[in-house]
Amino acid sequence: MGETVGIAVVGTGDWGANLVRNFAALPGSRLAALCDTDPARLARAAAQAPGARTTTRLEEIAAAPDVRGVVVAASAIQHHPIAKALLEAGKDVYVEKPLALTVGDAEELVRLARERDRILMVGHLLLYHPGVRHLKEMVRRGDLGDILYIYSQRVNLGKVRRDENALWSFAPHDLSVILHLLEMEPVDVAARGAAFLQGEVEDVVFLHLRFADGRMAHVHVSWLDPHKLRKFTVVGRQKMVVFDDMEASEKIRVYDKGVDRAGQIVSYGDALSIRSGDILIPKISLQEPLRLECQHFVECVRDHKAPLTDGADGLRVVRVLAAAQRSLELGGAPVALAAETAAAR
Ligand SMILES: NC(=O)c1ccc[n+]([C@@H]2O[C@H](COP(=O)([O-])OP(=O)(O)OC[C@H]3O[C@@H](n4cnc5c(N)ncnc54)[C@H](O)[C@@H]3O)[C@@H](O)[C@H]2O)c1
Repeated sequence: MGETVGIAVVGTGDWGANLVRNFAALPGSRLAALCDTDPARLARAAAQAPGARTTTRLEEIAAAPDVRGVVVAASAIQHHPIAKALLEAGKDVYVEKPLALTVGDAEELVRLARERDRILMVGHLLLYHPGVRHLKEMVRRGDLGDILYIYSQRVNLGKVRRDENALWSFAPHDLSVILHLLEMEPVDVAARGAAFLQGEVEDVVFLHLRFADGRMAHVHVSWLDPHKLRKFTVVGRQKMVVFDDMEASEKIRVYDKGVDRAGQIVSYGDALSIRSGDILIPKISLQEPLRLECQHFVECVRDHKAPLTDGADGLRVVRVLAAAQRSLELGGAPVALAAETAAAR
């Protein structure tokens, strides 16, 4: 207790700058070093963390005795090689989402972390969001009844990436929440999308997940859309919930709506009655999710405890993404998750 954890950030671009800002202000940690292959980006980030030294060489971070935990926020294509080198050097590692771009690479990171007894955390930011934590607690208590289906929308006119499509860039957030709420992996996934801007990189993807017990989920992601939506709708047998992250404060609405089975079935029309009750807006803490996530990493490194979003969680999401990618390439045909995992071996 009371120990200060030395942290480094590798990749200080747009998102890395947010991580630098948070770690620079976090009690219990010391932002010791920053690393980026682009000196201009490095210099810009360094202005936010005056005590941290800078380098363009990952080897310096890997060999630094005052660095215990490293945050990897380089481009997604670099996640696997950078995280691998750091785990091999004995560092605890927090990798931004997605953990890797193939199931095989994600599995290798999980295995390495286990063999070396290192922390491997993945940046599934929404699982640290007080709104999602509230939602999970409601589901756990059974407030919604059985969850029947979930759909989410993560669209806007936003940053167009070249290394990864909108599926790999955005859907890790949606998938991490859906798997967390349902506590199971889908049997198969089907995805359709289109690449309008760059030929081969999908700008918009519609993804459908089917679960063994009949439940389903749907995810719509796009960086080519007039709306800015960050929204989940969870339909339970008793209640329905909307989590809207674009709302400034009223992020969760609980609808006391459902369809009840009324006693003995006489005729179809008599058997079902619609219940449309109150809407409840619970008070949700407005703490910054990224700060909570950074704090969690520091505590996991300090106490050597497994993160909420550990490597296994990152791997589960990559499995779904890889199956969805295969489905995209097959023009929307359903792809079984088991088949995808076997193909990676
Ligand atoms: N959790 C979230 O909500 C969230 C949001 C945005 C981005 N991200 C993730 O953060 C990562 C970075 O995204 P971004 O928008 O900041 O991209 P970016 O392109 O702005 O920044 C990436 C940075 O990594 C650097 N880099 C590339 N290869 C490197 C290497 N080998 N060593 C050191 N630095 C290297 C680049 O020079 C650049 O500065 C991506 O994985 C992305 O998925 C997460």
